[in-house]
Amino acid sequence: MLFDKYCKESRQHSTQTACTKEKDGMNESISEQKPCIFLVDDNIVNLNMGKSALQQKYTVITIPSGEKLFAALNKLMPDLILLDVEMPGMNGYDTIKGLKINPDTANIPVIFLTAKNANEDELLGLQLGAVDYITKPFSQPILLKRVELHLLLQSQKDMIREYSGNLIGLVNERTDDIAALQNAVIMWAAEVIEFRDSETGQHVERVQKYLEILINAMIHMEIYTSEVMTWDNDAFLKSALLHDVGKIKIRDDLLLKTTRLTDDELLNMKLHSLYGKTLLENLQNRVPNQTFLEYAQVLAHRHHERWDGTGYPDGLKGDEIPLQARMMSIADVYDALVSDRPYKNACSHEEAIQIIAEGRGTQFDPNLTDLFLSLSDMIKEISEDETDGVILN
Ligand SMILES: [Fe+2]
Repeated sequence: MLFDKYCKESRQHSTQTACTKEKDGMNESISEQKPCIFLVDDNIVNLNMGKSALQQKYTVITIPSGEKLFAALNKLMPDLILLDVEMPGMNGYDTIKGLKINPDTANIPVIFLTAKNANEDELLGLQLGAVDYITKPFSQPILLKRVELHLLLQSQKDMIREYSGNLIGLVNERTDDIAALQNAVIMWAAEVIEFRDSETGQHVERVQKYLEILINAMIHMEIYTSEVMTWDNDAFLKSALLHDVGKIKIRDDLLLKTTRLTDDELLNMKLHSLYGKTLLENLQNRVPNQTFLEYAQVLAHRHHERWDGTGYPDGLKGDEIPLQARMMSIADVYDALVSDRPYKNACSHEEAIQIIAEGRGTQFDPNLTDLFLSLSDMIKEISEDETDGVILN
């Protein structure tokens, strides 16, 4: 039932379109109910025979040459073309080639209707894209049946094409919805962090921008490229916003303290990397296989490890520390240095760059330190930029 309905709608659409156009040079009247067939042959007797065989079920437009077929196609699109092979001027093989290279006509089913009955002629016709090859003299009932069959197949193809198009549209729509929801949740979480730690509110956004510069330079300069190329960089940059999410569990009196932290307080503050890991791990257990959450967990857990093994929480050393966390470490420390904090004033960019350089091979990955220092001007520009904006693709 559904298919019958579809075929009817499809044919109606096709013929209605045709009927709204001019029909100069075409004497046949076009029915709105019947599928439309173009019959192309240079022989008037063949045209009349073909037309009389088909006209009871179809609207038949007779066309005397390949050249005139293309002129007719500018005015209306048929549901099927019956095409002779041997014609003066453009023959049937050249005609079908012309039809197939044009996206507007490539999908119209073409049946050769010809006196050329050698196997190689038929093979060539089918190889050029014809859906069938009927030799003359033809049996009228068989011609009708084969035309009916190919119109049915074409309708099914159109239906599948339309269904696939709708499905792709639906999937794209849902994917966009999910991405929008993910971005909203990330922003929401980043804002929660800002509320708790207002002095460093824009810190996460700047860090994200430093990382973007760093990752582009790594690809360009071929530094750790084989690993970087396996990442989903959009997910990585989004995840950077949550590297300090564990601070949500740090007490206000520590987070906002204006004097240096005591040793005990410092130990407590250091727990934010473990808190962040746990929070994101719990989220990952609910929503598994999310690249973004995997990256976010690595960053939250490992961004305070140091190259020489004296960092926290686990004292990982060198490339035991995930590359993403090694990148985050430099970006995070640099921005902390050039920012005012409750317990200290901001350094200048030059002082901060000097401190980063001194941390080469002790606190920071030497390769990444060298790269970061080479990007100093771009880094400075971001650190001085008052306009903030998060990268969320
Ligand atoms: Fe941190």
